[in-house]
Amino acid sequence: SRQAGLFKATLIAAPARVPLLSTGPTEFWAYNGSLPGPLIEVTEGDNVEITLVNQLTQPTTIHWHGLPVPPGQDGNPHDAVAPGQSHTYRFTLPVGCAGSYWYHPHPHLLAAEQVYRGMAGGFIVRARQDPLAQIPERSLILSDLKLDARGQIAPNDSDDWMNGREGQFVLTNGQNRPVLRFSPQGRERWRVWNANSARYLRLQLPGSTLTLVGTDGGLLEKPQAGLEEYLLAPGQRAEFIVDAGQRRDLAKLVSAVYDRGKMGDVAPEHPIAILSVDFSAVSASALPPLPDKLVVIPDLGKPVAHKRVVFSESMSMRNGQHEMKFLVNGRQYDMNRIDLKSRAGDVEVWEIANQADMDHPFHLHGTQFQVLSRELDGEAIAVPYKAWHDTVNLKSGETVRIKTVQHWPGIRMFHCHILEHEAAGMMGQLKVI
Ligand code: C2O
Ligand code: CU
Ligand code: CU
Repeated sequence: SRQAGLFKATLIAAPARVPLLSTGPTEFWAYNGSLPGPLIEVTEGDNVEITLVNQLTQPTTIHWHGLPVPPGQDGNPHDAVAPGQSHTYRFTLPVGCAGSYWYHPHPHLLAAEQVYRGMAGGFIVRARQDPLAQIPERSLILSDLKLDARGQIAPNDSDDWMNGREGQFVLTNGQNRPVLRFSPQGRERWRVWNANSARYLRLQLPGSTLTLVGTDGGLLEKPQAGLEEYLLAPGQRAEFIVDAGQRRDLAKLVSAVYDRGKMGDVAPEHPIAILSVDFSAVSASALPPLPDKLVVIPDLGKPVAHKRVVFSESMSMRNGQHEMKFLVNGRQYDMNRIDLKSRAGDVEVWEIANQADMDHPFHLHGTQFQVLSRELDGEAIAVPYKAWHDTVNLKSGETVRIKTVQHWPGIRMFHCHILEHEAAGMMGQLKVI
C-alpha cells in the first residue's frame, strides 16, 4: 500500500520519424516521439495532471479510454486543443478502478486518422493491494500498422472507410514480432491491449492455454483457466496468466482468422503471428496455484432506467459511388445533438442491438459496465462470469444488455470502436444531468 500521490506528465503530440523498416524511417504522429505513446502507470487514489502540447497541424484531444474521469477532462470532441496550443487534464482516480486503460485522441472526425498515424498509449492504474503483484508482468500494446510501398502511412482508402483499416503489421509495443524471453519462474501476467483501428485479435498461444484474470476495467473475481483462445475486439483489454508448464520451446502468440462480416471483395485471410515466446530459460517445474479469489465485483444495484441503442448500416449512392453510412438509432453522429439523457448516479440497463451486417464493438465513455445477458439471433449466450468492461463486441444479429452508472454531469460519447465507423457517424451523445 502507499499514500495517494500526484502524477504529472507532459505529452507532446508531434510528427516523429521512427526507424521500423530497413528501407528507412516511417513518419508517424506520436506522443513524445514514442510508438506507442509512453506507458503511464499510476496507483488508484492518485491525482493526475497531464499536459497535452499540440504540435500537430490538426486539432486534437486526449481521451482517457475507460477511466472514470469527469466529462470536462475526458478529451471530448467539443474540447479540442488547437494546433500550437496546450491543455492540462486533471483528475483523481478513485480507489477501486485499478485496471489496464489507454489514451488516444478524440477530435471530431479525426480520431481514426490520428490513431492510425501512431497516437495511442497504455495507462495502467495499479491497485494498492494487488492479489497478483508477485507475478512478473508484461504490457503488450498491440497496434496494427498499414504502410504503403514506400514504407509510409497512406491515408485510408474507401475499403478502409467501410471495413475499418487493417495493417499488414501487428506491432507489439511498437516492434514487429518481438521475441519475449519468458520468466525463469515459469509464470507471467500479461496485460494485452487491442489498440487497432479495426483488426480483431483472436489470440491463441498454441501448445498452452491462457488463464483470463482481467478485462477492461480490472480483475475478475476468479481466474478463468484453460482458455484455448480469447477474442479481443478493437478498444478492449485483457489480463492473462501464462504458465510455461513443461514447455521450453519457442512458441508463437497468434491471431487466428476471425470472420467479422467484412463487406466487399475481401482477400482470403490468414492467421497472423504477433510475437514469439522463448520458454527456454524457464527453470521452475512446479508453480503454486493462483489465488482462487482475486477481487469482489459488486453488483451495481437495482436499475431505475432503461435505454436502447441500435447499430445499423445503410448503403446509398453519392456521385455514382456507393457510400456506407454507419448509424446509431438510425442517425449519424451530430456534435450538436443529444441522443440520450441520464442522471448521475442512476443505475441503468442499456440494451444494445447490432442490426448491421458486420460486427461492431460498442464503447461507452466515462464508466465501466457489466454485461447482464447476450443473445444472438434470438438464442441466449451464456455470460459465464462478472467482469468490468467499457467495450463489448456485438456480432451481426446480437443483442447485449449491460448495467451501467454515470458518475458526473456532462456529455459522454458512445460509439463503435472501429474508429473508421466512429468517424463515419456510428456515435451518439449521452447527456448526464
Ligand atoms: Cu477509445 Cu471514444 O474511445
Ligand atoms: Cu473511450
Ligand atoms: Cu463498427
